[in-house]
Amino acid sequence: MNKAPLVFLGVLFTLSLSWWGMVYSPAIQLGGETPDKGDGTALKPRVGLARQGEQVYRENGCYYCHTRTATGGQFGYKLQITRLDLNGTITDSAIGGADKMLPVIKQAYRFKAVAKAADALKTELGKTEGKSDAAIKAAKEAKATAVKEVKSAELNLEKNLKALGISGVSLDKDLSLECGLPAEKNATQKKLVANAQVTITSGIKQWSDIEAKVKKLKAAKARFRLQPVASDWPDRQNLVAMRQSVSRDFLFDAHAMPGVMRIGPDLSNVGGRLIGADNDAYAHIYNPQSTGKSSHMPPYRYLFHRKKITEDEALPTTAITVTIKGDKRSVEPGYAVTPTAKARALLAFLKSLRTDSALPEAPIVEQAAATSAGTREK
Ligand code: HEC
Repeated sequence: MNKAPLVFLGVLFTLSLSWWGMVYSPAIQLGGETPDKGDGTALKPRVGLARQGEQVYRENGCYYCHTRTATGGQFGYKLQITRLDLNGTITDSAIGGADKMLPVIKQAYRFKAVAKAADALKTELGKTEGKSDAAIKAAKEAKATAVKEVKSAELNLEKNLKALGISGVSLDKDLSLECGLPAEKNATQKKLVANAQVTITSGIKQWSDIEAKVKKLKAAKARFRLQPVASDWPDRQNLVAMRQSVSRDFLFDAHAMPGVMRIGPDLSNVGGRLIGADNDAYAHIYNPQSTGKSSHMPPYRYLFHRKKITEDEALPTTAITVTIKGDKRSVEPGYAVTPTAKARALLAFLKSLRTDSALPEAPIVEQAAATSAGTREK
């Protein structure tokens, strides 16, 4: 029996499986990525100089020593209530008992009571049929009691405005005055109301610790925000980046160069560090040791123009300088050094490397407050 066709088909099938696994499925997974951030904005491709700089970065092998991959780490959640529901009620247990900010939440409910009582009074007064003096009197009293409750809390104006914001009710001028709030709010006060939030977990809690709280807030139909906060996340804590690098950071790269080794620092967010530091960045690329500090980075002098200057000739303003012990001089004494088009493109590329805006799959992670950094909340 001739088995050749079967063997041929078997081999073909086996080989095509590897094509399937190693070429087709990764292409499907990565090829499906879109610039759309899901909030109406989109990632923008690199243009102009920065795009050319990508090539300079590649041809000089910067990626041998520099990665562009801020790694993830442990984080906890800061849970913030931003709005209470009009009908739902948050229980103390949802918030976690005695918290310093709790008075604001209590006050927010009192504001809601005031608004409700004022509405009820309006309805009574507006009735054309079955209007009764007794009912009006009762409604007036109810409102007065609610207002008294608000005032009895004795919170300062800032906390009161915060509570008003959380409560989601808006009081008219008269009612504001009655409650001890300004009739007309100024810009800062308006902002306080609009951006009001009450933090109920500091941010070192893990998800499992706050899951029950989140469920209770959901049940009470409160609106809240979950902000990740780095607890054990070296790249975030060392200010390498604001968030983790993800594959979409390389979406528009002609050649993705995530790098392999960190002989030099990670550059995923170097653009944020180079703002307004063109001269220093050039000086560093021209000669990493120009400031007198030792460095394992090689100099890239060929990316610059060098022109000899005489001793009494003034340094051109475009020349790259270093300042050592308050003394500003050329990065190469005796020469005026200026960047070539390639160096300018390289810097533009470096400046385009930023991970300081959030992606849905990689939210910005806040840095824990200095006092609690490194410690885990019980
Ligand atoms: C042989 C390894 C090596 C190569 C190749 C290299 N670097 Fe570096 N780089 C380093 C080291 C080490 C440091 C940190 C010490 C220092 O500041 O000099 C550094 C620092 C830097 C910094 C400062 C980073 C920061 O966080 O502020 C920048 C920017 C930089 N390199 C850019 C480049 C560019 C652009 C290239 C390619 C043209 C390149 N490097 C090639 C090793 C390297």
